[in-house]
Amino acid sequence: MTDYASLCAQLAALTDGIPYEIANLANASALLWQTLPQINWAGFYKMTDGQLVLGPFQGKPACILIPLGKGVCGTAVQQDRTLLVPDVHQFPGHIACDCASNSEIVVPIHVNGEIWGVLDIDSPIFDRFTEEDKHGLEQFVKTLETVL
Ligand code: SME
Repeated sequence: MTDYASLCAQLAALTDGIPYEIANLANASALLWQTLPQINWAGFYKMTDGQLVLGPFQGKPACILIPLGKGVCGTAVQQDRTLLVPDVHQFPGHIACDCASNSEIVVPIHVNGEIWGVLDIDSPIFDRFTEEDKHGLEQFVKTLETVL
């Protein structure tokens, strides 16, 4: 089981006093990548010009642009809520960046009350993400939001 309190503390320490977005997102994705077991992608998409644009990540190269309302990421933004997808093959319009992915979680990120973008994590394991992961990753995003 992942110790999310420790993960958030590590993120806070890594980003403390660093006003550089790319650096903070790059370290945040690396931290998730080295900590969470059984994942094959972890990274960020940022709302830019009305669509999601690929940001810092760990894993295989991924699709660069995701329109609002498309895929798990675009749907999470449209609905402004965390989406926990136990089987991506059952999600209408899922965008497959790595065919090894079988489950996914997408957490919206807010800055100044507006959607900034999303945290996206994929797993090759079906039903990889639990309610506990959802809660822990929402706390992780809250920590990150303080430096964005
Ligand atoms: N699966 C996502 C696309 C991004 S990749 O997983 C990195 C989606 O359906 O929005």
